Amino acid sequence: MIDAFVEALPDPVLVIGQDQRIGAFNTPARALFPALASGQRVLPLVMRSPDVLDAVARLFAGGAVETVHLHERVPVERLFEVHVAPLQLQGAMHVVLTLHDLTDARRTEKMRVDFIANASHELRTPLASLLGFVETLQGAAKDDPKARDRFLVIMRDQGRRMARLIDDLLSLSQIERQEHVRPQTQVDFCEVVRQCIDALSPVAKEAHVRLEVDIPTRLPVLGDRDELIRVAENLIENAIKYGANDDGTETSVAISLAIKNGEARFAVRDHGAGISPDHLPRLTERFYRVDAGKSRAKGGTGLGLALVKHIVARHRGVLRIWSEPGKGAEFSVELPMEAGH
Ligand SMILES: Nc1ncnc2c1ncn2[C@@H]1O[C@H](COP(=O)(O)OP(=O)(O)OP(=O)(O)O)[C@@H](O)[C@H]1O
Ligand SMILES: [Mg+2]
Repeated sequence: MIDAFVEALPDPVLVIGQDQRIGAFNTPARALFPALASGQRVLPLVMRSPDVLDAVARLFAGGAVETVHLHERVPVERLFEVHVAPLQLQGAMHVVLTLHDLTDARRTEKMRVDFIANASHELRTPLASLLGFVETLQGAAKDDPKARDRFLVIMRDQGRRMARLIDDLLSLSQIERQEHVRPQTQVDFCEVVRQCIDALSPVAKEAHVRLEVDIPTRLPVLGDRDELIRVAENLIENAIKYGANDDGTETSVAISLAIKNGEARFAVRDHGAGISPDHLPRLTERFYRVDAGKSRAKGGTGLGLALVKHIVARHRGVLRIWSEPGKGAEFSVELPMEAGH
């Protein structure tokens, strides 16, 4: 009876008898504690946490219901809240341990805190510089028109940087909010890519990057035009920014769009320094930059790829990143085609 009852509960549950023997447990508990799965029935040998064992002992000694924390480090780091409560069963005192997984909640909380810290930090730097120049203009440079003109240019750039950061943050939260709704309008992906290439051609020229373009005349997908522009713009801009040679010699970036396995595949390939494998998995995190100084110097905030990832997910597509240090990188996006194509 108690076995069936425990098995019906969704969280890991263990029922402990007087002699520290485990009377009953359910499948989630077995999945969590490998020793249980191999037949071990003595609590201290299954769960080594002194906090939990002490709470169990206190309850058997007549103590009250308690909640303690259990920190498991293998095979992966996890944090549980363990509810320790008494249970009279067939005339004998037992203790029920109910485990509640806090890992995800903690992780989300940490991400939220980090996010606010990062966003504030990114805003604070240009803001401090802006205020610094305002003070200089009010004081030392008051009657110096040359200095004033120079400072105003810097102040405008800092202001634009802050405006861009806020725009990106707002877009990110809007896209996240709509992520479960797949866009339903028909968009010509070729036109989107061509428009981005036109807009970025002067930047490429300045950086001595030759754009090698291979796109068909028309390729309809179901999508949100503005969002797809952000994807293409960001990937092409990154390839130019991070693919260009520092010494000013010419290099190339290949931009292609084609149908592959019934999907629209957009790819941007550069021949820059590439990205080492340990950075690859984190590249699409907000504010993550391999070299923050270099990115910031180029006006980047590290939100570009986070936006790309969420937009692609909303379009039910896939973002792939390939890179070998020294050989460049390729970012590709595969999107389902419009129905009927
Ligand atoms: N093609 C690339 N080659 C090498 N590194 C890249 C490439 N694309 C992106 N990265 C790395 O990934 C980081 C994150 O890219 P992301 O587009 O999110 O931010 P950003 O370009 O720095 O800023 P933003 O896109 O906001 O202007 C970059 O800072 C850079 O370190
Ligand atoms: Mg970028």
